[in-house]
Amino acid sequence: MNKLAVFGNPIAHSLSPTLHAEFARQFNIPIDYQKILVPIGEFKKTVGAFRSAGGIGANITAPFKFEAYDYCDEHTDRAKHTRTVNTFIFKNNICIGDNTDGAGFIRDLEKKQFQAHGKNILILGAGGATQGILGELISQNPNKIYIENRTPKKVTNIIDFFSTQFQIDFYHGEKIDLLINATSMNFQADYELQLDLSNTICYDLNYSERHRTFSDWAKKNNALVIYDGLGMLIEQGQLSFSQWL
Ligand code: ATR
Repeated sequence: MNKLAVFGNPIAHSLSPTLHAEFARQFNIPIDYQKILVPIGEFKKTVGAFRSAGGIGANITAPFKFEAYDYCDEHTDRAKHTRTVNTFIFKNNICIGDNTDGAGFIRDLEKKQFQAHGKNILILGAGGATQGILGELISQNPNKIYIENRTPKKVTNIIDFFSTQFQIDFYHGEKIDLLINATSMNFQADYELQLDLSNTICYDLNYSERHRTFSDWAKKNNALVIYDGLGMLIEQGQLSFSQWL
């Protein structure tokens, strides 16, 4: 049995076990994929126990994508570009870290017929999810990328981290083609944003119940189209699955 898991806190909402069970069924590969709630401060210990029990790989979700990067012995280039990890591959006593979020996000955008090239993009949130998609987003060569976050210092950190690759700015009311919600908790429209979304595609990285508050807010602001993060979840999951099996 191929032992897999997703680590996060909270984790109850995760659809990853359902998703990977479906991939496994399609390929006729037996897997045991569990959700593991990691107590804050016990990431290393929890992952260690999972590896000792025979785990061959895992996904990592909020708030552990930075800690996951530090945990790895080796990194793929796309993990290095974002300094975040959403996929562990355990092989020969080594942990390899990958990040499939950015590629999964771009693949889903393409399926939705949206090209980021030449577009103005605003991201809400400045945590692991934002950092994880930025490398791939930049590689699409958009016109501008702006970030807003409850804690401005985290935006400054991201601007500095990507400064050699792309100029990212705080938002000052420019016209936006794509708005991405990358906040992790129930979206609260406490941002002082003057936004008319009638020409803006809105993409929430969250799905299910967690998508509702952002979706309600975007509707109130006349969003042209609103997507949840289910498409991205499937795409990033496919990329992780293909690394493990
Ligand atoms: P993830 O890996 O999902 O990005 P994370 O690294 O914990 O998780 O980052 C969560 C992001 O959501 C942060 O930008 C956080 O804002 P702060 O940097 O100010 O903490 C944002 N966030 C979480 N709850 C929020 C809320 N209720 N309103 C606005 N932003 C929120």
